[in-house]
Amino acid sequence: PDVASIRSRLLAWYDAHARALAWRAPPGEAGGIDPYRVWLSEVMLQQTTTAHATPYFLNFAARWPTVRDLAAAPDAEVMAAWAGLGYYARARNLLACARAVAGDHGGVFPDTEARLLALPGVGAYTAAAVAAIAFDRPANVVDGNVERVMARLFAVETPVPAARPELRRLAARFVTDHRPGDWAQALMDLGATVCRSRSPLCGQCPLAADCAGFASGAPERFPLKAKK
Ligand code: ADE
Repeated sequence: PDVASIRSRLLAWYDAHARALAWRAPPGEAGGIDPYRVWLSEVMLQQTTTAHATPYFLNFAARWPTVRDLAAAPDAEVMAAWAGLGYYARARNLLACARAVAGDHGGVFPDTEARLLALPGVGAYTAAAVAAIAFDRPANVVDGNVERVMARLFAVETPVPAARPELRRLAARFVTDHRPGDWAQALMDLGATVCRSRSPLCGQCPLAADCAGFASGAPERFPLKAKK
C-alpha cells in the first residue's frame, strides 16, 4: 500500500470531519492543548465512549483545573466524581499519576513517550496518546479503533487477540513526524464514526480504495475473533 497517499487522504478527511471534542485542539493544532487535559481525557476514554466521558471530563476539568489541583484533592472526592465511569483502579492510578507529576515534576507533564511511561499508572496506550496528542510527537497510538482499521485495511486473517502485535506493526508503518497528533486522532475518529465495528460506512471512507477488507466484500469480518 502507498503509505504516503493513505496518510494524506486520511489527514485531509480529518481536516474536514474531525469531531469537536471537549479536550481536543482543532486539526492542525495538535500540541496546542494542555497536556493535563489530554491525559485526563485519554485515561477516561480507555473505558468508555466519547459521549459518556464528556460530562465527566468537563466536571473534572472545572473542579480541578490543573494537575496540582487534582493531586491535592482528597481521594474520596475524586473517587466520588469518578463514579459512573467504572473501574476504580483507574481512578486510583489517575491520582497516583497526578501526585507524581505534581510532586516529582513540578506540576509539568514530561513531554516524551518514554518519560510518560515511567509515571505511575501510565501504560503504553496513555503514554503514546499523550506524547502524540499533547506534544505532537510521533508515537504509535493503538486502541481498539486503530486495530479494527488496520485489520480491515490489510484484511488480516489472524484472529484477535493473537493478531495484536501484527496490527500494532501495521499501524507503526504510518507514524511519521508530520502531524503525529492529528494522525492518531484521525485514525481513532475514522474507527469510531466510519470504520465502525458494525455496519461500517465504506461509502464515506477516504481509504476505501486502499482497503483489502472492503475489496473482499465483507469488511465486517475483520478483525476476526478467536473462537471461544
Ligand atoms: N478515543 C480515545 N482517545 C480519543 C481521541 N483523542 N480522539 C478520538 N477518540 C478517542
